[in-house]
Parts: sequence; C-alpha cells; structure tokens
Amino acid sequence: MISVKNVSFQYKNSNLILDNLNFNVYEGEILAIVGKNGSGKSTIGKLLSGILKLKNGQILIDHVDISHKKNEAKLQDTIGIVFQNPENQIIFNNIYDELSFTLKGLSPNEVTQRIDSSLEKVNMLEFKNKDLYTLSLGQKQRIMIAEILAKNPKYIVLDEPTTMIDSLGKEKIYQIIRDLKSQGYTIICITNLADEILLADRTLLLNSGKIALEIPKEELCNQTELLKSYGIKVPTILEILSELRQAGIDLKLNDYTTTELISALKGKYKNEGCH
Ligand SMILES: Nc1ncnc2c1ncn2[C@@H]1O[C@H](COP(=O)(O)OP(=O)(O)OP(=O)(O)O)[C@@H](O)[C@H]1O
Ligand SMILES: [Mg+2]
Repeated sequence: MISVKNVSFQYKNSNLILDNLNFNVYEGEILAIVGKNGSGKSTIGKLLSGILKLKNGQILIDHVDISHKKNEAKLQDTIGIVFQNPENQIIFNNIYDELSFTLKGLSPNEVTQRIDSSLEKVNMLEFKNKDLYTLSLGQKQRIMIAEILAKNPKYIVLDEPTTMIDSLGKEKIYQIIRDLKSQGYTIICITNLADEILLADRTLLLNSGKIALEIPKEELCNQTELLKSYGIKVPTILEILSELRQAGIDLKLNDYTTTELISALKGKYKNEGCH
C-alpha cells in the first residue's frame, strides 16, 4: 500500500500546488487521478516515483518512508513512472539496448529473461530486435511500459499514457493496463481522458491542491454531474446511464462497456415485456 500523508508541495517561486494531501493506493487496484490542467496530477506522480523530492509530509510505500536516503536503493525498482510522450523518454534506438540499460547487476541471462517477459506483457515480443524509430507512437509507449516492467516494480504510475496515441493504440494500452492489474500490479493512472476513468477501481479528483472527490467505480454513474461541475469530461456511457436514470430506467453495470449496456437494456425490456 502507498500512503500519502499531509503532503504539501510548491515549486520554487510558485503557488502552493498540493495542499495537505492525504490518500492511499491499495494493492492490486487501478487508481485514476483526474483534475483540470495544472491541478498538480503530474506533480503527484513525480513525488510518488521519487523524481521530485518531498518537502512537507510523508509518503510511505509498503510502510517504507521514501524521503529517507537509506531507503532509496530499496525503493528504486518498487515504483516506476511512464510519461505522456514516449519520444521524450527514449534514449537508445535499439529496443534491447533501451530496455537493458537500467538493469544493473543482473547476469546476461537474467537481463534477457526480464526483457522477454516484459515485452510479452505489452505484446511487443516480436519487435525485440527492431529499432524504436520504426515503431508507431503507441508501440513506442508500450516499449516504455515494458522498460518499467523489466525492473520488476510493484507499483506503476502512468501519467497520461495514451493522450498522444490514436484510438486503436489507446485501446491496446487499455487492455495492457487491465492485464497488468490481473497479474497483480498496482496502477496509478493520471489522466485527463474520460475513457481512462472507466479502467479504474477508484477515481480521485484533484482540485485546488486537495482530493475533492473519491469515487469507487460502482458509484461513477451517480457522480456524473459532480464530476462535470469540476470541469471533468465524463465518459459517454456514464452520460447515457445518467440520462436513462433520469428517465426512470435504472441500470447497474460493472464494467461500463457498450456490450454490457446493450445486454442490460435488452434484459430490462424483455423482463418488462416490451419488444
Ligand atoms: N518545474 C516546475 N516549476 C514551476 N512550476 C511548475 C513546474 N512544473 C509544474 N509547475 C506548475 O505546477 C502546477 C501543477 O503542474 P502539474 O504538471 O503537476 O499539473 P497537471 O495536473 O499534471 O497538469 P496537466 O493536466 O497539464 O498535465 C502548474 O501550475 C504548473 O505550471
Ligand atoms: Mg500532467
């Protein structure tokens, strides 16, 4: 579990960005963090992954305080972060070189094994010997996810992982995120995209440096107006459910997929004898 306790943060010469923030990330969940542009989402991601140093408050990862210098090595591979633009993260041209350069102290066999296994998790194993410049943006992002996975983390922060990627590429990454959850990874998905909220078990809304809302997945369809009032674009399927409810048709969905919506509607109409 990750515990964020009384965390406040401001950049040099800036306003207070995070204002006494408190939240937990539970093992095995996908947690979405949403908020308007500039609300501090990426700042949270950078603090969690140790890119930014904490000045006030405490972050515990599995009860280990990340601010203590003596814990740095221990936590180094526990949490990894992937950013919006893979082009800014790529260092080497060759995929094998890119994935192996941070894997220090492992035998060549172990390195190959880690790389193969992480490429498999993002469905990119067949590209192992390719050069990164030959890949699409979505494929490059999958390589960036593999690079984090190769370090055997427990927690993965994805900071707007699909914002720059076309819709087919987005869907492939969504499936990878679902697969990673089912393999036991804990995922923090920082996002501005409505569809990514639907991947999450829980959504936190960041506003004025604080968590303004915490919404479990099953409650999402009851909170559409509230989310919109904070300037968050709501997934279309939630809009449909909300409109239907106002028209007296109350449907319960688990995954908020179109298929699920259609079968719930069919079920309801059959039960009520309408054709
Ligand atoms: N290195 C920095 N120095 C000074 N101010 C910064 C720095 N990085 C970010 N900020 C400011 O901190 C605030 C929060 O930025 P952050 O990138 O965390 O927001 P965000 O919610 O991720 O935004 P976006 O949706 O645009 O990605 C913004 O006002 C931003 O301009
Ligand atoms: Mg950001």
